[in-house]
Amino acid sequence: MVTVALAGAASGFGMTMLRTFLHLNSKSTTRHRFVLLSRSNKPELAALGIEVRPVDYANHAQLVAALGDVHTVLSVIGGSVEAMGVAQLALLAAAKEAGVKRFAPSEYAGISNDTIDLYHGKVEVWTAAKAVAQETGMGITSFQCGIFMSTFATGTTKPVTEVGKREGAKNGEEEALAGLRPWNFVVNMRAGTADLPGDGTAPIVFTEMRDIATFVYNALSLEQWQEVMGMGGDVKSYRDMLSIIERVQGRGFLVKENSVDEMKAQAAGDPGKTFYNQVRIALAEGWGEVPDTLNRAFPDVKPVTCVEFVEKRWQGVEVGEASWGEDQSFM
Ligand SMILES: NC(=O)c1ccc[n+]([C@@H]2O[C@H](COP(=O)([O-])OP(=O)(O)OC[C@H]3O[C@@H](n4cnc5c(N)ncnc54)[C@H](OP(=O)(O)O)[C@@H]3O)[C@@H](O)[C@H]2O)c1
Repeated sequence: MVTVALAGAASGFGMTMLRTFLHLNSKSTTRHRFVLLSRSNKPELAALGIEVRPVDYANHAQLVAALGDVHTVLSVIGGSVEAMGVAQLALLAAAKEAGVKRFAPSEYAGISNDTIDLYHGKVEVWTAAKAVAQETGMGITSFQCGIFMSTFATGTTKPVTEVGKREGAKNGEEEALAGLRPWNFVVNMRAGTADLPGDGTAPIVFTEMRDIATFVYNALSLEQWQEVMGMGGDVKSYRDMLSIIERVQGRGFLVKENSVDEMKAQAAGDPGKTFYNQVRIALAEGWGEVPDTLNRAFPDVKPVTCVEFVEKRWQGVEVGEASWGEDQSFM
């Protein structure tokens, strides 16, 4: 058993990770102790039985004290360049001083962050983490999972299942999104449209967020952390995904291909679409092909496949004829 501090796990992906960890702990004989670092008290999470340690990322001494008994820090901080850069650098500096043994920054994406402006903070943190690892022997890893499968959940009207009931989801869409905000990323599942990166044939790893949490939970028990630990639910191209979705939804999709030059122009022409286009360019160029390190290490973990996900979330949902409507908004 180790004491693990989760930073930023009170919303989004981190919240799903935390809920999954608590569920896995309840079934395990080798439990870990989880504490939550948050900028506020989070009484609703304390009620779940997790110790909440309120922190101010600008207060180094307080952060060091909060990490005093912590073996592993998992950061799932998100939101902004500042959050992923400044706050995580402060967390890393405190972890180093507190003698934390392992640190995994908030990565959870593709094989590199260099070409994505929003992820520049991640680049800085990774560089700093490697320096700390070299200096102190701290174990570090970049958990890589490709694209969240939940990007195919937005708009589903399927009811909540046992998992959602356990997690307190209000409806099936909330359960399927698992903390991801409703978002039409590349594919608009309700409108029936696809705004492909390139010709849509690049292979991409898609992973269900609870499976990511399960792989990471297992990784806590590894003796040694590799510098990159990838994991995946399935490897599919967007063209493959469209075949699956069209079969399950019983209709054809309207499809637009976008060359790298077109996506560059869209990124430059609309700041609101910079992140969306930079990720799509990266995907067209192989960014989504993360390694299967944790699948190989934990073959008993059977992650959800893309077919299973689409069938579970869309089989029987009534959808109209595909049209490029108002809600084809991407960012
Ligand atoms: N691969 C994919 O498809 C995909 C999709 C979405 C996200 N992600 C990744 O998943 C990770 C989590 O993203 P998310 O969208 O779930 O995050 P999020 O919900 O936007 O934020 C998570 C937490 O970060 C903390 N935070 C926010 N701003 C902060 C600041 N200025 N200083 C310190 N802490 C701050 C907050 O915790 P407190 O308020 O409790 O302090 C918040 O609950 C990121 O690495 C993101 O890139 C990957």
